[in-house]
Amino acid sequence: MGQNGSARAGGDAAAALLRAAIIGAGPSGFYAAAQLLAVAEPEFAVDLFDRLPTPYGLVRAGVAPDHPKIKSVTRAYDKTARHPRFRFFGHVELGTDITREDLLERYHVVLYAVGTATDKRLGIPGEDLRGSHAATEFVAWYNGHPDHTGLEFDLRASHAVVVGNGNVAMDVARMLALAPTELEATDVADHALEALRASGVRDITLLGRRGPAQVAFTNPELLEMGELERADLEVAGGELDDLSAAWLADQDRTAHRNVEILQEYARRPRSGKPITVRFRFLASPVELLGDEEGRVRGVRIERNAIAAREDGTLAARGTGTFEELPAQLVFRSIGYRGVPLPGIPFDADRGLIRNAGGRVCGEAGGVGDVYPGEYVTGWIKRGPSGVIGTNKKDSQDTIGRILEDAGAGRLNAPSRDDVEELVAERAEHAVTWMGWEAIDAVERAAGEPNGRPRVKLAAWEALRDAARTRA
Ligand SMILES: Cc1cc2nc3c(=O)[nH]c(=O)nc-3n(C[C@H](O)[C@H](O)[C@H](O)COP(=O)(O)OP(=O)(O)OC[C@H]3O[C@@H](n4cnc5c(N)ncnc54)[C@H](O)[C@@H]3O)c2cc1C
Ligand SMILES: NC(=O)c1ccc[n+]([C@@H]2O[C@H](COP(=O)([O-])OP(=O)(O)OC[C@H]3O[C@@H](n4cnc5c(N)ncnc54)[C@H](OP(=O)(O)O)[C@@H]3O)[C@@H](O)[C@H]2O)c1
Repeated sequence: MGQNGSARAGGDAAAALLRAAIIGAGPSGFYAAAQLLAVAEPEFAVDLFDRLPTPYGLVRAGVAPDHPKIKSVTRAYDKTARHPRFRFFGHVELGTDITREDLLERYHVVLYAVGTATDKRLGIPGEDLRGSHAATEFVAWYNGHPDHTGLEFDLRASHAVVVGNGNVAMDVARMLALAPTELEATDVADHALEALRASGVRDITLLGRRGPAQVAFTNPELLEMGELERADLEVAGGELDDLSAAWLADQDRTAHRNVEILQEYARRPRSGKPITVRFRFLASPVELLGDEEGRVRGVRIERNAIAAREDGTLAARGTGTFEELPAQLVFRSIGYRGVPLPGIPFDADRGLIRNAGGRVCGEAGGVGDVYPGEYVTGWIKRGPSGVIGTNKKDSQDTIGRILEDAGAGRLNAPSRDDVEELVAERAEHAVTWMGWEAIDAVERAAGEPNGRPRVKLAAWEALRDAARTRA
């Protein structure tokens, strides 16, 4: 039976229907599902699995709470979920509840869209001191990801350093700087709202190893920093060196505009706001310094200069000049990284599932080394970069490979079709789309009295209980 009330076709029709399992209900998984369901010949039925009881991946657990418009993209995903040939199996984890082999026994197509769950490390002394955190964890904590609810961030700190010059680093800095009144109307997790209300952080440094021409920010996000209610901005080391000035001439509009915005910030007088957000360029952390109790007390940085590599790209080179920044909180925000799954080829250098244009493949790569019927899309295919929409095109490319293989008879040949039985046996807490709708209703109702979009359920048991309110 389909979850949307329609019976799954039986007899000849069922034989003609190709079954696809998509693992990961983030943007890439949902775009792939919609694209497969739109194919007229051959027809696909799609089962979307996620280890969380909730769908949407980083749209729920990554996108900042004060960016509600961006989250409205989920309306398109909900439309996909209403398709009669779609089923959702939430709270079912590949690698623990079910295996790759289970899937290959039951599906013609297995598509991994699991994202990149962990962080890249700096690899410097002191990184494990108390008060040193991965941005991935902080982001998941303030967004109510149930794996991270129990984390503690000591926000009594006065000085925070965020390492990295990408949009995630900027999200982290902005979340630390937002006024409680700006956060109260959002879906930030309640435990985070409480901690951020009491925060003592007054000085936030965004540390970039290269210069303003090389930041990975997007313009609207950088402009938003200039409108913070509680924070004045400072820019340190923002002058363009000769190499960057020449290099910038060949860059896109975003890079030019970023430089203009940062130059305008550098000229702005302070206006007496209680918090300072500082853009500090051309500096790399080389050590986190600890106090006698094992807590971070500062960051030792090395000043950098821009140098050209042989291929013309620009790198940060240490100058041998060091200084110390005070900091009781340090967030490394230098990118995400994929986690290997049992039995699925993993490129450890790049931190993603080994693939050739979306077809899972072995180390040799190429046509002869492809795993039939196994595909990959999204961040775990190409690495952790790109906005939500980037995943649409990425999934289209993978679906193109699937259709080529379907036409050439190169898909997997499953031997059984007892998925509901498998899930019932292995994952007794599995959540259907109706279960997610029940969670959604509970969260929205809890938010309504205070004008919030929702109050997120951030504990596993609370999510399971809410899912059960509509069987
Ligand atoms: C902090 C942050 C903020 C962002 N903000 C924005 C923004 O404002 N605007 C924008 O356009 N883009 C934003 N992005 C980028 C955007 O979120 C990504 O491009 C997009 O989410 C990647 O989609 P994905 O489906 O590949 O991965 P994900 O969104 O990570 O989805 C992967 C899914 O797979 C599931 N999963 C993982 N392992 C398993 C397993 N073993 N079994 C079953 N399920 C599993 C996970 O639970 C998750 O639901 C942001 C990214 C981050 C990190
Ligand atoms: N609002 C939004 O649209 C939004 C919000 C969040 C995220 N996103 C998207 O999600 C993707 C991931 O974002 P992200 O911020 O995690 O990654 P990112 O954009 O790749 O930025 C990573 C940053 O870390 C720096 N870095 C890497 N290694 C470093 C090291 N060892 N020491 C110091 N700095 C180092 C990089 O500098 P170098 O350039 O010198 O390598 C870069 O500034 C991006 O595409 C982003 O646009 C979008």
